[in-house]
Amino acid sequence: MSGVFEDGLLILRQPGPPIISVEGIIYYRYMDQLYIPKVPALLDKDEVIAVSNARIKHAESLINVRYSLCVMRDLYENLLRVNAHKKVIDFGCGGGLLARLFGPGSDLEPPQSVFGVDLNPVAVDSALVAYAQIPNVREFKTSVFGEGDTLQLEDNSITGIFSSFVMHFKVFDSQLKELHRVLVPGGTFVWNDYLHSRYPGHSQKLIKKMSDIGFEVSKEKKEFRAPPENDIKHHMFFRAVKL
Ligand SMILES: C[S@@+](CC[C@H](N)C(=O)[O-])C[C@H]1O[C@@H](n2cnc3c(N)ncnc32)[C@H](O)[C@@H]1O
Repeated sequence: MSGVFEDGLLILRQPGPPIISVEGIIYYRYMDQLYIPKVPALLDKDEVIAVSNARIKHAESLINVRYSLCVMRDLYENLLRVNAHKKVIDFGCGGGLLARLFGPGSDLEPPQSVFGVDLNPVAVDSALVAYAQIPNVREFKTSVFGEGDTLQLEDNSITGIFSSFVMHFKVFDSQLKELHRVLVPGGTFVWNDYLHSRYPGHSQKLIKKMSDIGFEVSKEKKEFRAPPENDIKHHMFFRAVKL
């Protein structure tokens, strides 16, 4: 099986098995063709940044963008349903793929303002460019947001938090507290986790932490078909409401 190493990650040219051993080092499949040296929740900051950069750099070849957008659309509709889409934080914004949901021909109502945050500085720069394409967006900004960082936002000033393909990584208590602080009471935080059955302990711990901070968390199983083969992908969608 041929592949290349980039920033400590292994990139294959075709989808591979769940785990690969190369010269005694175990690599875990993360996206179909990207392999990481630890399970996602154990990656350190630099390793997460390497994954984030690979996703931005190789976007269309590494991830199935059509399928990712289907998942993100469904997730965003959860915010629309509860009128929480006006002032939105895109937590773990990556390159700002969220903006693509509102591209030409989209019937989705875009947020009035979007604030993209990520621990990767390259990601926040790319997302800023992407958000500029959102039709009728009144305000958009991005910022680096990692462990111990504060958000330049008033208490209770955000109506919704959106997070796609992020929460299977390590999320710091300080970040959860900060996200809770800026969310309006009754505001909603939505995220997906497609690795929940592989690493159930991670999402259980996360839910416990969020409940302790003052969120009421619920979850729902979802299935998506990923073109071109239309194979079924299972996701867990989470919704946390600030009490
Ligand atoms: C797989 S990418 C998803 C990007 C984007 N949300 C999307 O759906 O295309 C995950 C992103 O989450 C970011 N990330 C991971 N853990 C994070 C954390 N604890 N705090 C902030 N950003 C984080 C990574 O840097 C990366 O850009």
